[in-house]
Amino acid sequence: MTLVQETTTGLAGGLADELVGELAWGRSYAVVSPDHFRVDYVINPFMDPADQPEPERTREQWHAMLAALRDAGARVDVLRQRPDSPDMVYAMNLGIALTLADGRDAFLASHMRYAERRAETTSAASWAESRGRVVLGVGRDGVGPHLEAGDLFAWRGDLVAGFGPRTEEAALAPVAAALDVRVRGLRIVHPAMYHLDLAFCPLDDRRAMVCPAAFDAASAAALLDLVPEPLVLTEEEALTFCANAVVVGRTVLMPACPPRVRERLEAWGFRVVLLDLSELHKGGGSVRCLTNPTDLVVGRDLDVVPGGAVVLP
Ligand code: ARG
Repeated sequence: MTLVQETTTGLAGGLADELVGELAWGRSYAVVSPDHFRVDYVINPFMDPADQPEPERTREQWHAMLAALRDAGARVDVLRQRPDSPDMVYAMNLGIALTLADGRDAFLASHMRYAERRAETTSAASWAESRGRVVLGVGRDGVGPHLEAGDLFAWRGDLVAGFGPRTEEAALAPVAAALDVRVRGLRIVHPAMYHLDLAFCPLDDRRAMVCPAAFDAASAAALLDLVPEPLVLTEEEALTFCANAVVVGRTVLMPACPPRVRERLEAWGFRVVLLDLSELHKGGGSVRCLTNPTDLVVGRDLDVVPGGAVVLP
């Protein structure tokens, strides 16, 4: 009886895998070279100015990440780090790059919660303009709602947006309107998972890593409803930064992979590539935080919703 069940499950899983599409996005990234990476201040529970990154090791780890991204088939655009912005290496937070429904390439700049990070977006906006992108924003210099792009992911037609620790709920409607998309807000309550990209990682068309412990009960339930086949992470697993991973097709680049997580990923046909980013973790982020996807398309990865819409749990 057990054997029959296992065979049936295995077969169904195998057949289903062939029908599950890879993410259409995630094949090109912007990154920031860690020329001035330091821990100068404390804006998350991982940062400790007494524990500074060692520059040489930082460079080696970061270059190994760059090589792994390219090996996985990704294109990478490298920005220089501003000397006055020690957190700028966490490129994911600079803003969200995407092609709008009308065909324009755009960059919606973040409006960082903490003043210490606000100069970063000025450089990011210049970079975006130099790449032919129109620059949009929801606020600047502390005026207007905060928005940090580490809280934003395209998922099955929606722009899923974490809010609470960094992005403000008040940012969701202007983001939806600026991009003509549907934004699904999720309230983050865990102080150590202060960006959505520490607790949620889309893997393919149907699957994603999800850590419910990061959210309030209604938002955790709403997120689980959005994911047909969730790989549910415990709080302990998520705090290894395993969800702060980058997915390029069927390759998952991650800084840590608890055994149970690896089993599931491999059973689904993913190849796990482990990266040692221990020096970069000292600022409170890993491979996803260090990269910013530049190939999102409204109309393909996000449904076109003229005027935008916000859905809350
Ligand atoms: N020190 C940075 C901050 O607190 C880390 C950012 C991590 N990035 C991320 N996308 N989660 O803002």
